[in-house]
Amino acid sequence: MTGGAGYVGSHTAKRLRALGYLPVVYDDLSSGHRWAIRYGRLVRGTLSDLRRLTDVVTALRPRAALHFAASAEVEDSVRNPERYFRNNVVTTLNLVAALRAARCGRLVFSSSAAVYGRPPRRLATERDPLQPINPYGESKLMCERILDWCAPREGFRFVSFRYFNAAGADPDGELGEIHSPEKHLIPNLLRFAGGVDRRMFLFGTRHPTPDGTCIRDFVHVADLAEAHARAIGYLDDGGDSVALNLGTGVGHSVREIVRLAAHVVGHDLKPTEAPARPGDPPILVADPREARRRLDVRPAYSDPETIIRTAWRWYRETGFTLIRGGGGGTRLSADSTPRGSKRARGRRGS
Ligand code: UFG
Repeated sequence: MTGGAGYVGSHTAKRLRALGYLPVVYDDLSSGHRWAIRYGRLVRGTLSDLRRLTDVVTALRPRAALHFAASAEVEDSVRNPERYFRNNVVTTLNLVAALRAARCGRLVFSSSAAVYGRPPRRLATERDPLQPINPYGESKLMCERILDWCAPREGFRFVSFRYFNAAGADPDGELGEIHSPEKHLIPNLLRFAGGVDRRMFLFGTRHPTPDGTCIRDFVHVADLAEAHARAIGYLDDGGDSVALNLGTGVGHSVREIVRLAAHVVGHDLKPTEAPARPGDPPILVADPREARRRLDVRPAYSDPETIIRTAWRWYRETGFTLIRGGGGGTRLSADSTPRGSKRARGRRGS
């Protein structure tokens, strides 16, 4: 599991361990967290070190590889495109070479809804044109194309998952989400609600949507984890290589999420209105039917209230302590700051 110390990776490791797998995390902890590795072994290494990566994969001979590691912030990618092509595309090429050397025949790849850009209809389907509007989405599309071309030639099969908005925390309260700097809506709302940040910003109130704010499809990280486990089973059963949406098919506006978060935390939340972030599409909602058809995945935790409740519980029990203590290898900011400021220039995501 490259990037297995990150947000989606660590939750997936928990699910795989529960199913009897032995997860091995290959991670340089540049943005992932040591505290998030609880369900398997850590091998420290960077994907840019092809020799080490190849040695590790050939020694392990894994049943499947899961490739989570990436730089993953849309706005940061607009400011630092080269970093995204290097961190996401070059490293995927290295992983392909390592899989070939180890004769590993199954790969689950973390792609993104960002490959669609602005989908032509309300629900994005896998057959829609792939026209990213930011370097992050472009880098993920390049990775998908690399897999399309290399997999048949190199003898592996893959599932590329186009995540919509991953959110929430482990329903048992063992894992959660910390990025540094934090850019995502629900974590920022809860940091604000918990007094970690003195203010937060609502980016973009004039989008062409009913209430002027962006509409997103929030999918619980535990549902994403389950989908990864099913993808390994699908590949075991001889399933064809495929790219699949992971979302719910239901969109919620940013203002709706603000209201719901206020309800969950029990007090009013008033973010400061700010201009739209560069690279944010107004509406991004999945058509989830193909993933359901192929993998029989059904969201169990992805209603927004459960998402916010699980995240809120984890921050109060664990996350806020890690954040306040500077724990988990994170560099923490006092505020989530609007674009243009120095603090808004992010570094690697997980
Ligand atoms: N937002 C705020 N305030 C914040 C953070 C976010 O108003 O503090 C807004 C954003 O502007 C956007 C919405 O909340 O309108 C959602 O933003 P997130 O950062 O939570 O998520 P994104 O939709 O930008 O990102 C997600 C995935 C990316 C993927 C992208 C595709 O996290 O990996 O969708 O556009 F690339």
